[in-house]
Order: sequence, then structure tokens, then C-alpha cells
Amino acid sequence: MIKKQINQKDSIDIELLNSIGYDYVFNNSPINRFKNKIKIPDKLDKNKHEKLLRLKKEIDSIEDCKLKKNASQLVFADGDTQSTIMIVGEGPGQKEDELGKPFVGDAGNLLNKMLKAIKIERKKIYITNVVNYRPPNNRKPEQSEINRYSKYLREHISIIDPKILILMGSTAMEAILGSNKRISKERGQWKEIIIKQKNYKTIVTFHPAYLLRKPDQKKFSWEDLKIVRKEIDEQNIVI
Ligand code: URA
Repeated sequence: MIKKQINQKDSIDIELLNSIGYDYVFNNSPINRFKNKIKIPDKLDKNKHEKLLRLKKEIDSIEDCKLKKNASQLVFADGDTQSTIMIVGEGPGQKEDELGKPFVGDAGNLLNKMLKAIKIERKKIYITNVVNYRPPNNRKPEQSEINRYSKYLREHISIIDPKILILMGSTAMEAILGSNKRISKERGQWKEIIIKQKNYKTIVTFHPAYLLRKPDQKKFSWEDLKIVRKEIDEQNIVI
């Protein structure tokens, strides 16, 4: 005998069912039309897309920039523009400069693993960097460069409008929280940053490239990732 549940509100022809011999069990529980968390599509998606294009053009037209002069191309961002999670790194490395996408080299591989460890697929988040051109020999961007590009980064965050912002490494931290901060002190705590009068829940953690150099620090990074996962679960954030 085949038993199948039918919701009482389903319209069925009982006689027809009897004639074909199926046993149907009526279920009095209300129909759950939202079985899982549903991502409400952003009606302003087109608008968002246009704003991102405009920002990219603005960065593309930067003049007198040592980074731009030395880089082979602009590395803007990668991932889902509708994502509720946005990650900010430092700047493109050699591979990113070649491919025009952030976090595609060794640090990117580690980042993917870190995300996977807290059950997040890389393609479901949105990633960018503080500076969008590869610094020569992968040097850290200078303070003046961080200041210059942080204006674009703030605009970028405001357009994506994430529920959680993850700043990876001291350059991302300085670009958003200001200089004179120590990452070892700031990491792993939620902070509210304000951009265009909107609050963004933000956390600082170590950069994957730093973790590749100092694997003994991964334990701290793991603590931070668990804090992010907890927030996602507690706030029911759809990724
Ligand atoms: N490191 C970064 O900060 N960004 C990248 O895109 C790659 C490595």
C-alpha cells in the first residue's frame, strides 16, 4: 500500500483516488509555503548592477596612481552581487592581476577552505579588495593609497549592502576602521561601521596570506569564523 500525505487544502477528487487504489493521508498542519529560508530577490538588482558598473568605471579612470601604472588590469570583485556576506581583502596578487579576479591564487584557495569549514560556498559570497590594482611586488599598499581607494571601497560596500562584512587583514581593517589599530586586538569582535548613514555589522580577521605564512595563527582565525557562523545561524541570514 502506498501512503502519501496530502494537505487538506489540496483540491483532489476523492472518488478518482479511490478508483486508482491509492491511500492518501490528510494532514491537518498548515501548508508551509516557505519550507526553507527564501532569498527575496532584490528588486533593485538592475539599479545595483548599474551602480557597480559606474563604480568600476570610476576606478578605471583613476589617474596618477603608481598601482595602476604597474598593474596589468583592474581587479574589481568576484561573487554574488546579491550576497548577504561581503569579504574585503588587501589587493590583487600576481595571479589575480593575470586573471582579473580577486582571491584566485594560494590565498584564495585557503579562503575557499576557510569558508567551506563554516559551510559557506565561495560563489555565494561577494569579494573585493581595498586596492583594485596589484601593488608592485605584492607590497602592502601605502597609507596614501589606502586612503585614496577607501572612498571607492566604502561606495562598493554601500552598493552591495551586506548583512555581514568581513575585513581580512590589516589593510582592510585600516581602510574601514582607520589606522593606529592592531589586528591582533581588533579581530574576532563585532563592530558597527556606518556608511551613508547605514550600519554594517563588521568583523576583522586575519588575512589568508598571513595564515599561509603563520599557520600557528589559524586557531584564531577559526575562532573568528565560528563567530561569523553563529551570527548567520542566530540571525537566520540567508546566504
Ligand atoms: N590577497 C588579497 O588581499 N586579495 C586578493 O585578491 C588576493 C590575495
